[in-house]
Amino acid sequence: MNISVIGTGYVGLVTGACFAEFGINVTCVDKDAAKIEALERGEIPIFEPGLEEIVRRNARAGRLHFTTDTGSAVKDSLVVFIAVPTPPQPDGATDLSYVDSVARAIGSHLDGYKVVVTKSTVPVRTAERVRAGITEAARASGKDSVTCSVCSNPEFLREGSAVEDFLRPDRVVIGADDEQAIAILKDLYKPLNLIEVPFVVTSVAAAEMIKHASNAFLATKITFINEIANLCEKVGADVHDVARAMGLDGRIGRKFLHPGPGYGGSCFPKDTLSLVSFSEELGVEQRVVSAVIEANEFQRRRMVEKIEAMTGGIEGRTLAVLGLSFKPNTDDVRLSPAIDVIRLLQERGASVRAYDPQAMERAAAELENVVFASDAYDAARGADALILATEWNEFRRLDLARIHEALREPVIVDMRNIYEPPEMERLGFRYAGVGR
Ligand SMILES: NC(=O)c1ccc[n+]([C@@H]2O[C@H](COP(=O)([O-])OP(=O)(O)OC[C@H]3O[C@@H](n4cnc5c(N)ncnc54)[C@H](O)[C@@H]3O)[C@@H](O)[C@H]2O)c1
Repeated sequence: MNISVIGTGYVGLVTGACFAEFGINVTCVDKDAAKIEALERGEIPIFEPGLEEIVRRNARAGRLHFTTDTGSAVKDSLVVFIAVPTPPQPDGATDLSYVDSVARAIGSHLDGYKVVVTKSTVPVRTAERVRAGITEAARASGKDSVTCSVCSNPEFLREGSAVEDFLRPDRVVIGADDEQAIAILKDLYKPLNLIEVPFVVTSVAAAEMIKHASNAFLATKITFINEIANLCEKVGADVHDVARAMGLDGRIGRKFLHPGPGYGGSCFPKDTLSLVSFSEELGVEQRVVSAVIEANEFQRRRMVEKIEAMTGGIEGRTLAVLGLSFKPNTDDVRLSPAIDVIRLLQERGASVRAYDPQAMERAAAELENVVFASDAYDAARGADALILATEWNEFRRLDLARIHEALREPVIVDMRNIYEPPEMERLGFRYAGVGR
């Protein structure tokens, strides 16, 4: 079977490469010619563990192709995945212009029956809009009958473990209204039957809702434990004790109960805003998620207050920040807590030295006046405090005696609770974590 994936970013490239790994003939399309040329040379534009190998192997085997030509990719494919960006507009509503332009491109190159699948995270009812866009473009290019199924197959992969998540997902959600499309999509994912991955087949609207409800729930869980952490600081309780005992309750579960600077990245912030926005349009208020968004923004400012308290004033200080990506094992800095906190520190008059194992190039495009260091010790050199912003493994094993020696003041603010407070005190640091 031939399929194409339109949009070759974090989701599109992983999706394309993993379907090729399943033995399917895949064409990845992107409008960014430089990206496609790099991929054709075997260069991977993003850092994602395991991705390079799987892309190279399948490209060599002739199952994975790259192009900027949407038309020919659509013509040659039975299934077309849409994996383009769905960024927020200033008012929080989703910008669907990328999805609309792909729908038009599909419509004007429609050639026989196709299954069109949105993998991008989209507001509920976007499939109807995609179908309308395809139909209009098809008619404009002289086609009288449009034979396509528009489905939703939301993606749940996590950056940093995206390949593993795609090949071993917790579930595959297929939102489709006709049996033929359901059968084709199930066939695409057939190798997952071997590892007994559950398939959830729903209406298109339910599939679109599942993605938003899942992300909003995870964002809520993170925000909830952050607020409990803030309370723990006041009463002298360790939030890790609280979270562990809470998580042992099977109804609650242990994951996503780790306090920190608040959620970030390219999904939770925009998807929570999107949910609130399209719910409002439908006349249904989302009070919980609205409060989560506000509390998450507050958590960033709280981190800055903590740094202020630990340094005795931010103005004129030099601060070392370790970690720039929004989470470990990725170079993605979109809405990264580290970047937000650096901006707030600079607004208050701090100079920042920063280091990240993978994300410095992307961070440099977002930030001004930051000195990028060659490693953690170089970042700490002469700084008035060290801020642990992203929990990369290499920051869990720092030579703390060297850090102590490099810093002008032995102050550490650990926004990820990587270290244990008593141990840090024993080593002579003034140390603050979150909720401990
Ligand atoms: N990143 C994640 O972890 C993740 C997880 C689940 C879902 N999603 C969703 O997947 C979608 C894509 O996210 P991403 O992180 O992969 O984005 P991305 O920005 O990394 O990649 C999108 C790609 O689409 C390309 N593109 C834009 N318009 C195009 C067009 N008309 N034709 C061809 N290519 C086009 C861009 O050049 C870019 O390379 C979003 O809706 C996002 O919410 C992302």
